[in-house]
Amino acid sequence: MAQIFDRSSNALARASLVLTGLIVIALGVTLDQLQRSPWVTRQGQRPDQPVPFSHKHHVQGLGLQCQYCHVTVERSSYAGIPPTKTCMNCHAQIWTNAQLLQPVRDSWATGQSLVWTKVHDLPDYVYFNHSIHVNKGIGCASCHGRVDQMPLMYAQNTLQMEWCLNCHRNPAKNLRPTSQIYNMAWEAPAESRPVWCTAADAQSGAPTAESVNCVTKDPAGAGPEMASLDLPARGAARGLAGDVAAAGLPAIPVYRKFTSQEELGLFLVKHYKIRTPRELSSCEVCHR
Ligand code: HEC
Ligand code: HEC
Ligand code: HEC
Ligand code: HEC
Ligand code: HEC
Repeated sequence: MAQIFDRSSNALARASLVLTGLIVIALGVTLDQLQRSPWVTRQGQRPDQPVPFSHKHHVQGLGLQCQYCHVTVERSSYAGIPPTKTCMNCHAQIWTNAQLLQPVRDSWATGQSLVWTKVHDLPDYVYFNHSIHVNKGIGCASCHGRVDQMPLMYAQNTLQMEWCLNCHRNPAKNLRPTSQIYNMAWEAPAESRPVWCTAADAQSGAPTAESVNCVTKDPAGAGPEMASLDLPARGAARGLAGDVAAAGLPAIPVYRKFTSQEELGLFLVKHYKIRTPRELSSCEVCHR
């Protein structure tokens, strides 16, 4: 039989196979990197907005609360973007000639809403809900970062599935008292920074996040009456609380002290009734 290929083509064929393999791997790695790159996730980007609204000025500078503008964040899946009216509460009086605010005045005059470009935008096939996160002790800053320090808004996190799951698999390390949800500077408890919590449901047996109350100052030092009542050992205080409740007076809350996120997380998982990591990472939670 005539030899069509000479011997060297064997090596060539092998080499080209290896090369193809390498190219496929390289392509895979590149696509994977690309998929996670800020270019795709838009993490960290500051899109053009009709008005260069600064959270730093309005939150840190003026001390406005998030809910002043994002009014539905505690009770709906959407946090909501404020209407022009909210801006005009102040800007009808201040900075009335500023060129920067012309689009706001135009919007007010014409009744046409400002069109803000979304910074965070999940695909439609993902279900997300603000109210459950906020009411179960996840602070705005855990997902959005230090908004109070952002002159222009950007996404601090990727919002990719991996990021959501990372927390859903271990929510305890991110849980905080619901009273601290809007606190941009909240830090986990430590020896030098304890947190005291009481849970009304300890007696009534119906846990909800609202029945947990945490404070960052020693409740025993709150006032002279409180202090004297809280002086006896914890057990005695509990007995006393029982007696008072039996007498028809409001029960005295029994506070527990926490000096680490591990302890606080465990306590809150129980009292906020957080589902197990397994339940929380099942597909139906986010893809309905
Ligand atoms: C004076 C009103 C005002 C206050 C107060 C305010 N915001 Fe905003 N926020 C806006 C406006 C207007 C936008 C849309 C423009 C933009 O993205 O910068 C916005 C956008 C955002 C976005 C991005 C929305 C998107 O497109 O994905 C987040 C996140 C956010 N705010 C969080 C917060 C948090 C957290 C606080 C409290 C620390 C807060 N805001 C306080 C007015 C406000
Ligand atoms: C509670 C009053 C108040 C509200 C509500 C308010 N602003 Fe302001 N805004 C101010 C003040 C005061 C300044 C001047 C801040 C400074 O110079 O530090 C300002 C400054 C600005 C500026 C100039 C740039 C800057 O940040 O210094 C822009 C733009 C602006 N505001 C847009 C808005 C928009 C858009 C809204 C509505 C979503 C809004 N403001 C709501 C009080 C308010
Ligand atoms: C568990 C993470 C998480 C927490 C906690 C959280 N957010 Fe968000 N936020 C998101 C995600 C994800 C989106 C994008 C939602 C979408 O595209 O449907 C978003 C979007 C927003 C938007 C754009 C408008 C909207 O409703 O989609 C605003 C404003 C906002 N968040 C404000 C807040 C404020 C204020 C808090 C605290 C009270 C907060 N967020 C807490 C994850 C979070
Ligand atoms: C920092 C922690 C954290 C992050 C990040 C986070 N979650 Fe959650 N999520 C929670 C906690 C805590 C709950 C409440 C669980 C419970 O009550 O059992 C929750 C509950 C939910 C629920 C259940 C709502 C319901 O009504 O059953 C959905 C849906 C959800 N998260 C979607 C998301 C999505 C989508 C993302 C990412 C874009 C995300 N979460 C990111 C902590 C987080
Ligand atoms: C905590 C919320 C959450 C849970 C639980 C979850 N996903 Fe997702 N999933 C997301 C988010 C957010 C995205 C959008 C990612 C993006 O935009 O990059 C996503 C995207 C996807 C995509 C689109 C492809 C991709 O990777 O971008 C598929 C497929 C998917 N999820 C399948 C699943 C399956 C299967 C499960 C169960 C094993 C699951 N998801 C559980 C939040 C979740």
